[in-house]
Amino acid sequence: MKASRVVQYLLVCIAVALGLVLEANADCPLTRPMIEGTNRIFANRDLSGNYVPKLIQRVQTGEVLHMICQPDDIVETTCQPDNNFNPPLPMSCMNPMPATAINVTDAFCPTTMYSIGYTINNQRLELYRACYDRTNVRALYTTHTVYGKPFYPTRPDVDFSLDNVLSPADARTFTVRSIYGAFRRIFGENQTYIPNNRAVVINRGHLTPSADYLYKDQMGATFKYVNVVPQFKTINDGNWEAIERWVRGLIRCGGSLRIKTGAVGTLILPDTSRPPVPHCAILGAETKNPVPEWMYKAVRTSTNQLVAIFLTYNNIYAPERPSAPKFCEPVPCPIFLPNTAVAGFTYCCNGTNNFESDLMYATMYALLTYLHTHTYVTLLLIYCLHVLHSQSFQFPVKIFASPSIGMARSSRPM
Ligand SMILES: *[C@@H]1O[C@H](CO)[C@@H](O)[C@H](O)[C@H]1NC(C)=O
Ligand SMILES: *[C@@H]1O[C@H](CO)[C@@H](O)[C@H](O)[C@H]1NC(C)=O
Ligand SMILES: *[C@@H]1O[C@H](CO)[C@@H](O)[C@H](O)[C@H]1NC(C)=O
Repeated sequence: MKASRVVQYLLVCIAVALGLVLEANADCPLTRPMIEGTNRIFANRDLSGNYVPKLIQRVQTGEVLHMICQPDDIVETTCQPDNNFNPPLPMSCMNPMPATAINVTDAFCPTTMYSIGYTINNQRLELYRACYDRTNVRALYTTHTVYGKPFYPTRPDVDFSLDNVLSPADARTFTVRSIYGAFRRIFGENQTYIPNNRAVVINRGHLTPSADYLYKDQMGATFKYVNVVPQFKTINDGNWEAIERWVRGLIRCGGSLRIKTGAVGTLILPDTSRPPVPHCAILGAETKNPVPEWMYKAVRTSTNQLVAIFLTYNNIYAPERPSAPKFCEPVPCPIFLPNTAVAGFTYCCNGTNNFESDLMYATMYALLTYLHTHTYVTLLLIYCLHVLHSQSFQFPVKIFASPSIGMARSSRPM
């Protein structure tokens, strides 16, 4: 972060803190027991009377919280001048509405964009969006807005939901047992990447983090397969978590940030034959559920000014720091991140230099290549090697021009 930006940030922090102190008497503090003890959806009504999810902790005097259990079970509670809620919180319910994923139109997503949230009386309360590739069982990216929070309620213990987006069999390719089997199939029965069928080496890495939300229902809504990719556990718990914490630290005393988090490329590792042959690490059948090679997080202010782009190499076996891929022009990172494969080698990228468009190009290239693996097995390999050597993402024009593509596409279930 530039010095001027640090100063700017501190000034904003002080201003927000002063505001909070001055107005503290006019708020109803939402305490940890109130938040942790409530499993209803916290919502407000906007000026047009539509429900909107409540994303911040602050509740002002006179503010009405709409505490939603089901569409026909919504309890209103008002913040009174005496700083208490009437009726009081916490407020639980037997059968809270789960967050759903519905497909929406979004020109930036090359596959299907899902809106994650709730539908109440035909109104959508959106929490985040997930761009997902159903054909290849692969989350491409998510977008959400993160607000500062004063404390970290316990992470809910919920199962990951399928949302009719992928099959239970596809979801099972994330289990430790299945991952071990896939690695033995791909890299040889004597592979040493995964020691046994109980070791958690790769887990379900959230794109939109659960800890970016304050309320239980919202944290729980991040436990969806559309929001996860296979990520090495030590990287998830290492530099990736440090990046997530850094983001939340920026808004500790107020404000919000717009976040895009995604995965790109497919991890390639050598097998056990001599000489070793490189293979893509794909956890499911054919092209389903590939282990991404890179994960990125682009952080912007609420007015869309770029704060930072992080790009983390998802490969704990890398013998050395890889060179940056073509879509990332490296710039210094705003935080110190250990430079090891196990923590996750990380670059920060210059956002003014087409990061988004070059990234989209790389993503599209991977998608098209996957769709046509039957016809273009060699292209897949070329793609793998491209990524391996971080060479330029030159599109083979042939992939568009060949008339057999249409046949290949129509013969494949989409
Ligand atoms: C999106 O939703 C509509 C209506 O719910 C459905 O008809 C359509 O098939 C869906 N598209 C995808 C790609 O899932
Ligand atoms: C795996 O190792 C065992 C024991 O060293 C050996 O007998 C077997 O041939 C190896 N399998 C492969 C596929 O290399
Ligand atoms: C990022 O790229 C722009 C445009 O090329 C350049 O002006 C700027 O200096 C670069 N920023 C850094 C930190 O290198």
